[in-house]
Amino acid sequence: MAKRYERYLITSALPYANGPVHIGHLAGVYIPSDIYTRYLRLRGRDVLSICGSDEHGVPITITARKEGITPQEVVDRYHVLIKRSFERLGISFDIYSRTTSPVHADTASEFFRKLYDEGKFIESSSEQYYDESAGEFLADRYIVGTCPRCGFERAYGDQCEKCGSTLSPDELGNPHSALSGSKLVKRETKHWYLPLNLYEDALRKWILEGHREWKTNVYGQCKSWLDGGLQPRAVSRDLNWGIPVPVEGAEGKVLYVWFDAPIGYISATKELTPDWEKYWKDEDTKLVHFIGKDNIVFHCIVFPSMLMAHGGYILPDNVPANEFLNLEGDKISTSRNWAVWLHEYLDEMPGKEDVLRYVLCANAPETKDNDFTWKDFQARNNNELVAVLGNFVNRALVLTTKYYDGVVPACGELTDYDRATIEEIKSVKEALESNIENYRFREALKEAMNLARIGNKYLADSEPWKVVKSDPERVKTILWLSLQITANLATAVEPFMPFTARKLLTMLGMEGFDWERLGETSLLEAGHRIGKPELLFEKIEDDVIERQMAKLEDIKRRNAEAAAAAEAATATVEAQKAEITFDDFSRNDIRVSTIIAAERVPKTQKLLHLTIDTGIDTREIVSGIAEYYEPETLVGRQILVLVNLEPRKIRGIESRGMILMAADPSGRLTLLSPAADTANGSVVG
Ligand code: 2FM
Ligand code: ZN
Repeated sequence: MAKRYERYLITSALPYANGPVHIGHLAGVYIPSDIYTRYLRLRGRDVLSICGSDEHGVPITITARKEGITPQEVVDRYHVLIKRSFERLGISFDIYSRTTSPVHADTASEFFRKLYDEGKFIESSSEQYYDESAGEFLADRYIVGTCPRCGFERAYGDQCEKCGSTLSPDELGNPHSALSGSKLVKRETKHWYLPLNLYEDALRKWILEGHREWKTNVYGQCKSWLDGGLQPRAVSRDLNWGIPVPVEGAEGKVLYVWFDAPIGYISATKELTPDWEKYWKDEDTKLVHFIGKDNIVFHCIVFPSMLMAHGGYILPDNVPANEFLNLEGDKISTSRNWAVWLHEYLDEMPGKEDVLRYVLCANAPETKDNDFTWKDFQARNNNELVAVLGNFVNRALVLTTKYYDGVVPACGELTDYDRATIEEIKSVKEALESNIENYRFREALKEAMNLARIGNKYLADSEPWKVVKSDPERVKTILWLSLQITANLATAVEPFMPFTARKLLTMLGMEGFDWERLGETSLLEAGHRIGKPELLFEKIEDDVIERQMAKLEDIKRRNAEAAAAAEAATATVEAQKAEITFDDFSRNDIRVSTIIAAERVPKTQKLLHLTIDTGIDTREIVSGIAEYYEPETLVGRQILVLVNLEPRKIRGIESRGMILMAADPSGRLTLLSPAADTANGSVVG
């Protein structure tokens, strides 16, 4: 017999507040966790659903630098966007907090401090890359160099974006700083490590022996980590964004984001209720972490080791991680903008929140990676939600309104077919429960939809619209049973499609959901008046889907252009030209000059008309740099000019000389200037 828990604590992976949420996140984590939570609430269980933004870590600092804003501004922007988007989709967290909250800073610091005071960490120094001009140790992402596998010159210290290899900074050729461009030095730095190896035996016992029921992907990953042997893991970083390491002599060091983030679940619970300890420390609580597969090691190995080291906390009963969702056959990618973003979907498809919830659950990557396509989205809406669920409900309600003025008729004599249908309905409750409780949400959704299929078939077979002419008494029973099925549907679909469930409740004039009576055919009394029937779903036309697909095509085209530009930027350097003599060279008369006026040459894209003080004279030169420089930024700038070039008339201007520029392999031009102010007319050579 499975243990009967007194309360449930459901956590959903804290999304990084470094970008909006997309359908991959939803299908993998938030829709399953919301279905599970809603189901438990319907059953009257004591349940808390916890989530919040993960607001620390290096990528947030990278976004901030790129945009010229602070990391706090980055997370403020995305926290609000993500929180609001979840609400709009009906994801019903009891709290959506954030890891920059003061309660979290205190909770994470105290957690670290307790482990530190009890000697649970190893302190160890190692040599790390340091950027002397920026005055900081660099995270792997901030180190660039040559990839040892493919020779790409701008590979990151953790990964080569060209060939996809996972790297460590020590493998890079010519490592230098992405911040300052300067060469790096190695410097000693101290960090704190959690010796995961000490918890290996306990983890083996707990997971490999005690939780064979976990999903195969989760159990398998845990087994391979444990069989490979665990190593101490650093729980601090040299970074200026995060929770400061709360010990003496740790200036400039913060808690590693994967140390503080899972503690975020605890802090959020603390913020929610003074009773938080009951949920985290009492063995009668069932703790379940909903995550994506890339988070398995942190939730099954690292966080549990932290909890064991601390003591007093319960461990998760399950960690139902999903695989990944792809989009139109390609991996979802934030950096390539290859995603359907939740906030955009909500804006572009108003009123279709449940359609997305439905499709993402029906197609959830529960056991293998899956693909989201807009065509499938349309087909599921039109062929399942409209044609089965919507159609059945609509027929039942419209006929009741038409024949009985919206009053539930009484059940007459039952036929064998009625009785068989009633039996079928009864089995849905148990099927739903066992699927949901075992984290098989796709199957569960099929069971809920099965009620509508049963109803649809029942109506199609019984044909009340025909029978009404010959046997009006019989029609009363048909609609009575159809309405009972509809009332069952309201409760059965609530975990999956809460907006639809609410509408059903209103249309049926019912007070509330009643899970325990699911499967019964006495949910609506004869004589009860139902509300006004409305369409639950509407057909999605081709043009709506085509617009979405065109949007993705556009992203694909832009990505291809960006890739081509990046490729061109790394194109090989032009080969050396034929040798010349010194005399050949000295025939060039190059002078330091200053631009004293600059304007665009009318009706051209590329040409600037410059007035130059060469030290010898003031002259006009036409130069093809308008694509790279705004004229007003050039005035006063020193440049190098080949002054003895034969004059040429360009667009009616006599151009006397040539401005020296460097052209990179992609053809991009940069002006050359003396490194320090130099008198105009100075000879270059
Ligand atoms: O992978 C992620 O998106 C992480 N931000 C998940 C953190 S889960 C938890 F530990 F906070
Ligand atoms: Zn590479």
